[in-house]
Amino acid sequence: MATYDLVVIGTGPGGYVCAVRAAQLGMKVAVVEKNATLGGTCLNVGCMPSKALLHASEMFEEAAHSFAKMGVSVSSPKLDLPAMMNFKQQGIDGNVKGVEFLMKKNKIDVLKGTGKILGTGKVEVSADGKSQVVETKNIVIATGSDIARLKGIEIDEKRIVSSTGALSLEKVPGRLLVIGAGVIGLELGSVWRRLGSEVMVVEFLDRILPGMDGEIAKQFQRILEKQGFAFKLGSKVTGVEATSKTLLAKIEPASGGAAETIEADVVLVCIGRTPYTDGLGLKEAGVALDPRGRVQIDPHFATSLKGVYAIGDVVAGPMLAHKAEDEGVAVAEIIAGQAGHVNYDVIPGVVYTTPEVSSVGKTEEELKQAGTAYTVGKFPFTANGRSKVNQTTDGFVKILADAKTDRVLGVHIIGIEAGEMIHEACVLMEFGGSAEDLARTCHAHPTRSEAVKEAALAVGKRAIHM
Ligand code: FAD
Ligand code: NAI
Repeated sequence: MATYDLVVIGTGPGGYVCAVRAAQLGMKVAVVEKNATLGGTCLNVGCMPSKALLHASEMFEEAAHSFAKMGVSVSSPKLDLPAMMNFKQQGIDGNVKGVEFLMKKNKIDVLKGTGKILGTGKVEVSADGKSQVVETKNIVIATGSDIARLKGIEIDEKRIVSSTGALSLEKVPGRLLVIGAGVIGLELGSVWRRLGSEVMVVEFLDRILPGMDGEIAKQFQRILEKQGFAFKLGSKVTGVEATSKTLLAKIEPASGGAAETIEADVVLVCIGRTPYTDGLGLKEAGVALDPRGRVQIDPHFATSLKGVYAIGDVVAGPMLAHKAEDEGVAVAEIIAGQAGHVNYDVIPGVVYTTPEVSSVGKTEEELKQAGTAYTVGKFPFTANGRSKVNQTTDGFVKILADAKTDRVLGVHIIGIEAGEMIHEACVLMEFGGSAEDLARTCHAHPTRSEAVKEAALAVGKRAIHM
């Protein structure tokens, strides 16, 4: 007889949410975690610490630059970096404790150690030289991802850092060189720029934020440049030499050519993440990987080994905490015999900078490539009353709708609070709603969300305030 109905390996947002949902459905569940704390990348070195530093550094910048014009007079703010790091740590601890509480509340056993799959129904858990084998009817792999490395550039997490080191620098670097203009580069670049660093971002492609709507990315780049970011697009870093005083980064055009050397105090390598399967024993157990090293799954999250499923960053799809969570819920429901499902067409993405960037569904580039006939409705925050009175008018809302049916296919927002505003678009799209549906939905005044309604009106060329 198996001891457990389900053993989940990894307690990131995918793993712990899966465990809770399975327990709600009456299963006897255990989670296995090799880290000292629960919560995975997201809680310990990802979403949560980065958002704490983004919030604190934004307040620092606001106090220095925005308070005076509103008639709030304060003396020039001083940075206490250890206190800011302590603020970040308190946020992490609070969230980790929250996951521990959820495990207890749902009577989920927490097995500390590295999980290895021995075969269907058997997981070995090893810690401190000791190991035990637990038996279970089902196994979910939720082991997440790790930083991607650049050949020839050694990360020491002091001067040449990944996101993990960049979340814990002991002093503000004078010059920060960021490799990769993706989400991490722009979020953590923003944190250190606000605290005083000169930030240069080197990006291989000829644009920032690949995958986001091109028009939004262009405007975002302009806004970031106004804030002080410098971008070197279409370029690659081919090596970083560390002298006792400085770092010398060699940069070449992406297509090859003459190299130049740029000096920096800290280099942040953030060129993506790779699935993490070390120590899981997948090959021996017979769990297949895809050509990109991700655990291969069928549409029901089942791997090639009976009774073993996989979710989150370790499988294909966007590496996002909410995608991992939704997959965790879906797989628990499938194991329980229900119809668990994730709609991959409606997964929002948010960049938590100032302003924020948010997006759901298709970009204009994707619609063009697919040959879909579409209409566009746009509305700028300069014409939104609430944004005007707050004097935060950067950005716009863009809605893409099917030209024939008016069904909303994509929504892209750049602006303050864009990350909160995107969700009405998500609900609309889950219900297959049209731009007309959105345009006829009453929105409270004065809110920034009225710009979403106006963009929907603009799809039918009848925005009121423009
Ligand atoms: P993870 O969170 O990576 O958790 C995997 C867990 O498995 C880890 O605890 C690991 O220790 C454990 N594990 C691995 N192997 C074993 C083993 N063999 N035995 C036992 N335990 C094991 N996403 C967002 O949606 N929003 C954000 O704002 C955001 N910000 C981010 C900021 C940064 C700096 C980074 C790096 C990432 C960010 N992400 C964000 C991405 C997000 O963190 C991941 O998508 C999410 O954590 C994936 O969840 P997961 O459960 O698949 O894996
Ligand atoms: P990313 O995939 O977002 O961006 C990596 C960038 O690096 C891309 O623009 C890519 O073109 C560029 N690049 C790749 N190789 C390069 C090279 N050799 N030289 C120069 N540029 C190069 O990856 P990032 O920022 O590391 O983030 C990893 C993951 O974490 C992402 O998948 C993201 O989804 C997740 N994340 C999500 C956040 C959010 O939702 N707000 C915040 C932070 C991370």
